[in-house]
Amino acid sequence: MSFTVAIDGPAAAGKGTISRAVADHFGFAHLDTGLLYRAVGKRVLDGEAALDAARGLVAEDLEAEGLRSPEVAQAASRVAVDADVREALVDFQRAFAMRSGGAVLDGRDIGTVICPDAAVKLFVTASPEVRAERRYREQVGNGHAASYAEVLADVRARDERDESRAAAPLKPAPDAVTLDTSHLSIDEAVAAALAVVTKAR
Ligand code: C5P
Repeated sequence: MSFTVAIDGPAAAGKGTISRAVADHFGFAHLDTGLLYRAVGKRVLDGEAALDAARGLVAEDLEAEGLRSPEVAQAASRVAVDADVREALVDFQRAFAMRSGGAVLDGRDIGTVICPDAAVKLFVTASPEVRAERRYREQVGNGHAASYAEVLADVRARDERDESRAAAPLKPAPDAVTLDTSHLSIDEAVAAALAVVTKAR
């Protein structure tokens, strides 16, 4: 039987870490749906049309080098505004959600659009400053030269684009449990998420 956990929220709120921990704990498969948009964004940066890129996306594209760069993140959030691009990525995500043994999908519209019937919906958030601080440390750790101010501007620009777009804007599903990680350690945030999923099983 399928059991889907939908985890949505803005960039750097802790979705990825929480999703991986939930998947590991319960033995569920995990799909970081941001990678789909990043892979399309990367192909657009390489000169392909966005819709062709979305329609032609193959699993190997999700393992391409450089998908984590800030340039690709911005390109992803630009292609994500396009309703046709989003539509082209729906079937892949739904098929993943329905696999037997359970699945965790994280993104922006999993609980609202992709899997409105998910067994568990979490909306993971944190203040823009806290998220920018986390992303900044991560990028410095990865050898990307960025300033905190640039990272904060990038976070705000993506929030603005994700929340204001007409197609599947970033917002909590009415039945989502909101988890604000601004003042939580990673362990505390993971424990809170595990408790919500455990209750629903
Ligand atoms: O989560 P991540 O930062 O990798 O996502 C990159 C971009 O892809 C986001 O800023 C957002 O615009 C878009 N995205 C989306 N819907 C999803 C996942 C990501 O629109 N389900």
